[in-house]
Amino acid sequence: MEYSTVIFERKENYALVTLNRPDKLNALNKQMFDELDDILKTIELDKDIYGLILTGSGDKAFAAGADIVQLHECGEREGKLFSEYGSYVMRRLELLKIPTIAAVNGFALGGGCELTLACTMRYASEYAKFGQPEVNLGIIPGYGGTQRLTNVLGKGKSAELILTGNMIKADEALRLGLVNAVYPSDELLGKVEDMMKLILSKGKLAVSAAVECINANASLAPAEGLAFESLMFGHVCGTDDFKEGTGAFIVKRKAEFKNK
Ligand code: COA
Repeated sequence: MEYSTVIFERKENYALVTLNRPDKLNALNKQMFDELDDILKTIELDKDIYGLILTGSGDKAFAAGADIVQLHECGEREGKLFSEYGSYVMRRLELLKIPTIAAVNGFALGGGCELTLACTMRYASEYAKFGQPEVNLGIIPGYGGTQRLTNVLGKGKSAELILTGNMIKADEALRLGLVNAVYPSDELLGKVEDMMKLILSKGKLAVSAAVECINANASLAPAEGLAFESLMFGHVCGTDDFKEGTGAFIVKRKAEFKNK
């Protein structure tokens, strides 16, 4: 598939995906979701891609939400489908068994904010702004915002953002735990790539298993989550990487993981 609204780059062992409609502040239209879906399928099948970074092109926006021009055409039935399709793509992103990091380089509003919430982690530039402004348009978040934002911020703060449509700046997002760190704009992507490289220098099978367990927290009851963790713990104990990691520690050398 040819991509016209996103840029898909393969780095050494991870993918960098850039939302690329800068003249529309990278608003998420149907074409962009189709292309993201195709990229996610490629990543799921490619055993040499161990991580994914998402960012936006231009210096103003990560993504300013769903495309309001397309949204405007919806009636009740189309609106439900509009929400379900975006939600499906975000869930597919969320369920990747690799770390996914949003490098939020500007506005992350509505669906843009929701896209960051489907990632494993978020880092922001100093000019990033987050918000769920849907109520200003007479709608509600439709790509998981009411659920994932509430999981991250708790009910009160999530409700405040969703019910007022107010935006928060990067420093407030950091204070609330919505992002892990804030960097100067020109350093953001480099810092996020450094983080990805650090993560991928570890046992990648262990990293993948940990991501699966962390994601399971959102859908499993506590006892089931603990049982799933034990299952995955046993699974990684059966790998060569486990023998290498623990063996290297015992003889005081650096582990050399083979992803087996
Ligand atoms: N959907 C479609 N187009 C969008 C868009 C969106 N969500 N967000 C921005 N754009 C377009 C604008 O229409 C404009 O296009 P134009 O140049 O052809 O007129 C272009 O992107 C630049 O946006 P503009 O509004 O001129 O930039 P700004 O700096 O004045 O304002 C925002 C920036 C983010 C505050 C403002 O664009 C905005 O409020 N966007 C909508 C946010 C939103 O409600 N998202 C939730 C959607 S469900």
